Amino acid sequence: MKKYNFKHIYVAVLCLFFAVSCSEDNDPVIGPLVPKANEAQDVKTTGFTATWGRVFRGTAYQLDVSETSDFSTFLDGYNSKEITSFLAVIEELDDNTNYYYRVRGIVDGVATPNSNVVAVKTRLIPGDDLTLKGEADFFVGVAVSPERVADPAHDEVYQREFNSITAENAMKMRSIFKGLDASGNIIYDWTESDAIVDYAEDNGMNLHGHALVWHESVPDTLANFGGSNAEFESIVEDYITTVVDRYEGKVDSWDVVNEAVEEGSGGLRASVFVQKMGVDFATKCFRFARNADPVVKLFYNDFNMTTDSAKRNAALSIVDDLIAEDLIDGFGFQMHISFNFPSKEEIETAAADLVSRNLLVHFSELDVRVNASADITEFTEERSLAQSDKVRDVVEVYDALPAANKYALSIWGLKDDDSWILDRFPQDDWPLLFDEEFEKKPAFSGFIEALQN
Ligand code: G3I
Repeated sequence: MKKYNFKHIYVAVLCLFFAVSCSEDNDPVIGPLVPKANEAQDVKTTGFTATWGRVFRGTAYQLDVSETSDFSTFLDGYNSKEITSFLAVIEELDDNTNYYYRVRGIVDGVATPNSNVVAVKTRLIPGDDLTLKGEADFFVGVAVSPERVADPAHDEVYQREFNSITAENAMKMRSIFKGLDASGNIIYDWTESDAIVDYAEDNGMNLHGHALVWHESVPDTLANFGGSNAEFESIVEDYITTVVDRYEGKVDSWDVVNEAVEEGSGGLRASVFVQKMGVDFATKCFRFARNADPVVKLFYNDFNMTTDSAKRNAALSIVDDLIAEDLIDGFGFQMHISFNFPSKEEIETAAADLVSRNLLVHFSELDVRVNASADITEFTEERSLAQSDKVRDVVEVYDALPAANKYALSIWGLKDDDSWILDRFPQDDWPLLFDEEFEKKPAFSGFIEALQN
């Protein structure tokens, strides 16, 4: 192989320097001879922004926009529209409509060949004929409370858009379990849970029970329990048996255990249930529920399942033990996410772990924060469209699941100001599908668009 010495390298560098210095207008030394049209940006109901790359020695560009991919027709004003920059904002278009664009460069007064063709569909303005439950082939759920199901404004939208409900708080242990009487028997308060069950029955809705055992809803009596571990376990068995039995044939599915795994480490959360019942507390709780009602669907439910693989794998280890004993039917991914994460691919990868186990998949508590970083003070159009894109990603992933694995996709609240997020975090946020006036947001459109693809 020929040896190159310092002199050869020195000459080569000089030639490169000369070539660069000869190029005009700071053009790349050898740029593309045909422009590349990029994906459309800022896609709205009424238009989009077309963008493209430069060509070597290009002085202008010709833009074609059409409703037909063969460009047999052109949008008014967009047949070889001459543009000197690298983008064009196309407006006053029809919503939910396919458009196509391509460009040519002008070099020394001559048009280059056409670029690639970019297809773009304007966002949907949903008409009243399109409802979430009407477009989906799975249950579309919403988290509700006794106050809100009794409110006519909430009730109207619940009935129009949803065919499944989850009690946001009314069916948790702290809502039902009110202590022990002198004989050591559990004191139950069914007021709030019955209100939710009655509403589901009155409206023919699927009812997902949430949640029999959760470390964040432990009654004081159990949190400070002074009896033996065996007595603690007996009380938990009595509670699960009584609740599941009471709602047999009315509750369609239960989150039996919620959030048993720590973030990051994937270790078992050191809850009072683990301390008193042992590391196999989940298996015991699922067995109590299965014995009480062999028909109701039993779920494990947790968050960060699509973004924390260590946590997901630890949860799946618990689930695999339950599968081995035929004690579980499904897995709830809560889906408390943000406009900019997780990616669609991360959600697909995580959901595949459930499909491979033949489990029902419940996206159980979807909300999409747009201000987790507290970097906006109002709900900008840009954030709203990004939120809509993320909702569309989530629904597309869910809708692509095998039919045998679909159960429900539930939204964790109706309108933005109903959301727990506003109570939990100091900054404003707009995480749901409807605004404070019960109006559909672009996020709602994203849900529908996903089901129409
Ligand atoms: O009902 C009382 C009211 O009487 C009292 O005046 C008020 C002020 O303290 O508190 C009210 O209870 C609150 C309850 O929501 C009803 O609004 C609790 O303090 C509050 O902690 C509770 O927050 C709920 C949280 O779970 C804890 O249970 C949120 O609404 C609910 O959205 C949230 O949901 C959880 C899921 O169950 C599990 N996955 C995570 C998700 C978000 O944390």
